[in-house]
Amino acid sequence: MFQPESLIPDFPILDQSIQGRRLVYLDNAATTQKPMAVLLASRHYYEAINANIHRGTHHLARLATETFEKARSTIASHLNASSSDEVIFTSGTTDGINLVANILSLSGRIKPGDEVLISVLEHHSNIVPWQMFCERTGAILKVIPCFEDGTLDQDAFHALLSERTKILALTWISNCFGTVNPINEMAKSARNVGALVLIDAAQVIAHSHIDVQAMDADFLVFSGHKVYAPTGIGVLWGRAEILNSLPPWRGGGEMIKEVSFEKTTYNDLPFKFEAGTPNIEGAISLAAAIDFVNDIGLKPIHGHEEFLIRYAAEALAEIPGIHFYGPSDRAGALSFNVDGIHHYDLGTLMDQMGVAVRTGHHCCQPLMARFGITGTVRASFALYNSTSDINALAEATRKAVKMLR
Ligand code: ALA
Repeated sequence: MFQPESLIPDFPILDQSIQGRRLVYLDNAATTQKPMAVLLASRHYYEAINANIHRGTHHLARLATETFEKARSTIASHLNASSSDEVIFTSGTTDGINLVANILSLSGRIKPGDEVLISVLEHHSNIVPWQMFCERTGAILKVIPCFEDGTLDQDAFHALLSERTKILALTWISNCFGTVNPINEMAKSARNVGALVLIDAAQVIAHSHIDVQAMDADFLVFSGHKVYAPTGIGVLWGRAEILNSLPPWRGGGEMIKEVSFEKTTYNDLPFKFEAGTPNIEGAISLAAAIDFVNDIGLKPIHGHEEFLIRYAAEALAEIPGIHFYGPSDRAGALSFNVDGIHHYDLGTLMDQMGVAVRTGHHCCQPLMARFGITGTVRASFALYNSTSDINALAEATRKAVKMLR
């Protein structure tokens, strides 16, 4: 039996009071808290290992390089990548998507009139890089619409797919509504028309198992901080054959084989895409976070969070005037509004009762526009949340609604 209470001592930040009340942290889709295993890995790196990697021959330089590359292997085996060369360290999901958009636009593969397909559920980080990409290449951005329940319109998706579609860039789980897209089927359909597929797994990495070899994807991106690791570190996984065929984007140290003023030759994967000193500590801490999650097991974590989200929807449902967004089989996040009350006012009062939720557009302004709203209140869940957190969420929402009516 999964017992979140037994994990709380692992997360020192949760042991505090806000406005005199126990902190109830339900903003995990924005960022997760860090367990001792990660805090200690980070500290140990700076206390015992710190040196630049792939450069020096001294003891610390070798130790830092080995530890960094071991972190890459941990992540590769967690994703079931066929090789750790397919794991590129980035600063996060946004950086990974920008990297892919830039190397594809430099590749000469995209011609004016080609199409990039995204969905209305996307975070700005999976919209804006493609708008910039289209400006540079003359490609056209197409958007898969959704139904009222926040699920994507699959007929419209198939109607939008054609041999002009060169890229499908799609979130697996919506950060706003918790919609779980049928990613495998959609990726397969896009591959069938010859498109490359990029999956935004930012809201998946802490909750579900990912097997990149079992998916019809070419690229998958996520951020470390969504999976109990620090900010400033993330991963782009890409199929080696595709990554090998694409040019580098950022130039500098590490990504080169030989440099002269006449000509530079580029390094092999994964270094070709990792110019400059990387976030060494971040990568090592990310591997510690992945180990932490695997020690508990993604299956029990997933089951626990599924239970919590249903429990939360039931606990909140009795509040008069409440509307939920997204389908009932949502994952990770529960978004709602209450008639006649601004999401910001609700969130502010809930904070005064110790409950941390996110309010606003959640970096999804086009999705908000689709629903004719300026934002929602969003509660999002992690392995350390318990039913008592959900009871506190329901009580705080009820009280805040009463005060604002
Ligand atoms: N992507 C993060 C969120 O959904 C910041 O809150």
